[in-house]
Amino acid sequence: MTALRPLTDADAAVIASWIDSGDALVLWSGKAGFTWPFDGGQLLDFRAADPARRLLVAPGPDGRPLGHVMLRPDGTPRSLRLGLVLVAPEFRGRGHGEALVRAALDAAFAGPDVERVTLGVYAHNHGARRLYERLGFREEEVHAGSVQVGETWWTSVTMALSRPAWLSG
Ligand SMILES: CC(C)(COP(=O)(O)OP(=O)(O)OC[C@H]1O[C@@H](n2cnc3c(N)ncnc32)[C@H](O)[C@@H]1OP(=O)(O)O)[C@@H](O)C(=O)NCCC(=O)NCCS
Repeated sequence: MTALRPLTDADAAVIASWIDSGDALVLWSGKAGFTWPFDGGQLLDFRAADPARRLLVAPGPDGRPLGHVMLRPDGTPRSLRLGLVLVAPEFRGRGHGEALVRAALDAAFAGPDVERVTLGVYAHNHGARRLYERLGFREEEVHAGSVQVGETWWTSVTMALSRPAWLSG
C-alpha cells in the first residue's frame, strides 16, 4: 500500500461497491447519515457538505482504491476523529487495514497541534477493535443503545490514541 491520496469522484463509486448491505453500511459509517442503497454520490455529497472532512484513499499497485479512511476535526481542541475505515473485501486479512490506519495516523499526527485521535466502533465489530488496539487505541467510553439496526440496538465504543502513545508504539 502506498501513501494516502484524496478521494476522487471515480474512487467514490468503487468504495461504495464494497458496501453490500444496510447493516454493513451502518457498521462502517455509523451515524454519518448515509442511506441504503448506498452509492458514491452520497460519499461525494458528504465531503462537499464539510470541507474539513478529509476523505483519503489507499491505492493498490494498479492505482485503484484498496482502502478508504476519513480524518476530520472531532469537536475538541487538538483532537482529530478517524472514521469511515474500509478495506476492499477481497483484500481483507492481509494487513492492509493496519497499514491504512497507520498511514492515516501518520497524516493526523503530522499536524504539530494534534495531540489525540479518537474513533467510534461498534462493540460487536471485534476485528476492527483488535486492529485499533494493536495500534495503541484504548477504550474511553461505551455507549449502550447507540443506534437501532432492525430489531437490535447496537452499542458503540469510543477509543482514543494520544500522541505520546503513538510515538512510543
Ligand atoms: C476492519 C477492516 C478495515 C480491517 O481490514 P483488514 O485489511 O482485514 O485488516 P488487517 O488485515 O490489518 O487485520 C485483520 C486480521 O488479519 C490478520 N492479518 C494481517 N495480515 C495477515 C496475513 N498476512 N496473513 C494472515 N492474517 C493476517 C490480522 O492479524 C488481523 O487478525 P485478527 O482479526 O485476528 O486480529 C476491514 O475488515 C473492513 O473494511 N471491515 C468493514 C468496515 C468496518 O467495519 N470498518 C471499521 C469501522 S469502525
